[in-house]
Amino acid sequence: ISLKNYNTFGISVNAKRFVSITSYYDLQQLLKIEKNLFLISGGSNMLLTKDIEKLVVHIDIKGISIDNEDDNFVYITVNAGENWHDFVLFCIAENYGGIENLSLIPGNVGTCPIQNIGAYGVEVKDTITKVEAIEIETGKRITFSNEQCQFGYRNSIFKNELKGKVILTAVSFKLTKKNHQLNTSYGAIETELASKNITKPTLKNISDAVIAIRKSKLPDPKEIGNSGSFFKNPVISKEQFLELQKKHSNIPSYNVSENEIKVPAGWLVEQSGFKGKRFDDAGVHKKQALVLVNYGNASGKEIYQLAQKIQKTVLKNFGIALEIEVNVI
Ligand code: EPU
Repeated sequence: ISLKNYNTFGISVNAKRFVSITSYYDLQQLLKIEKNLFLISGGSNMLLTKDIEKLVVHIDIKGISIDNEDDNFVYITVNAGENWHDFVLFCIAENYGGIENLSLIPGNVGTCPIQNIGAYGVEVKDTITKVEAIEIETGKRITFSNEQCQFGYRNSIFKNELKGKVILTAVSFKLTKKNHQLNTSYGAIETELASKNITKPTLKNISDAVIAIRKSKLPDPKEIGNSGSFFKNPVISKEQFLELQKKHSNIPSYNVSENEIKVPAGWLVEQSGFKGKRFDDAGVHKKQALVLVNYGNASGKEIYQLAQKIQKTVLKNFGIALEIEVNVI
């Protein structure tokens, strides 16, 4: 079957064999007969460049359950196949706080810990209490505490040591029921709230602001295929930054630590002349240069070639090696 509808880039590659798994039990049974699998969930963080020979397993395990609650907090476990944004909307309707800044991120709950999704000053690691998985080799259930997940910026143990070794089946969250810790520090959120004269924002106000900002900048994968930010924002030394600043006085930056500075990759790509550029059906989004897009029939190879061209140019212009954030297959 074609995987075009199973990846947000809308890349048309074929799977020889495909199965949708809707329960933990079925997954356990499947692992008894086959371990060489290609997993696909929301398909929102991958670039497919070739047909898949392995058995493609679509993780579609649904369900949300409240494990526990007290006056202040609620503890929720969400199965891997739940859509992330639907879960955010559920939390906002229930007045559960903590993930409102992560509204409208494509993908499913089961993959949110892998790259520790983050936006507008919040990372999902701040609300995750544990991650449940099944070990491919043994079929055993494993639970990871937040600490064991080794979360970092767009990073976790699941992208490193455990890559290809476990399948995430559920994620548990601790969310607030009152005294919500609202994060409105991100400039664009402040501006959006001010434009609506909102001084005491609710969770819904923040979610709505994030949705408005994302819609204004990021392409909707249903309309234009994409995988969000294609590159990570690079972290460079202060020394290198000061050197670059001499030549480019307007270079934006965020402090990471005393000696490290993060530079927005979108700026580097834009300054290298790629923003809004299109090569056949592969392109760079016109409103956010960090997002590569498929205008319809681009192949994964074409997108990847464009990415390599960008990496080369940015390296030549700024001496910075951009790291790809998306999983290239
Ligand atoms: N910029 C440009 N040109 C562009 C895009 C950005 O010059 O075309 C510069 C501007 O100076 C702008 C700054 O980059 O002020 C930051 O841009 P933006 O606020 O759009 O954020 P970002 O650093 O480009 C990151 C995340 C996004 C997340 C936003 C908001 C990464 C790799 N990306 O992007 O995450 O939504 O912050 O918090 O960290 C994703 O991971 O898929 C994603 C969309």
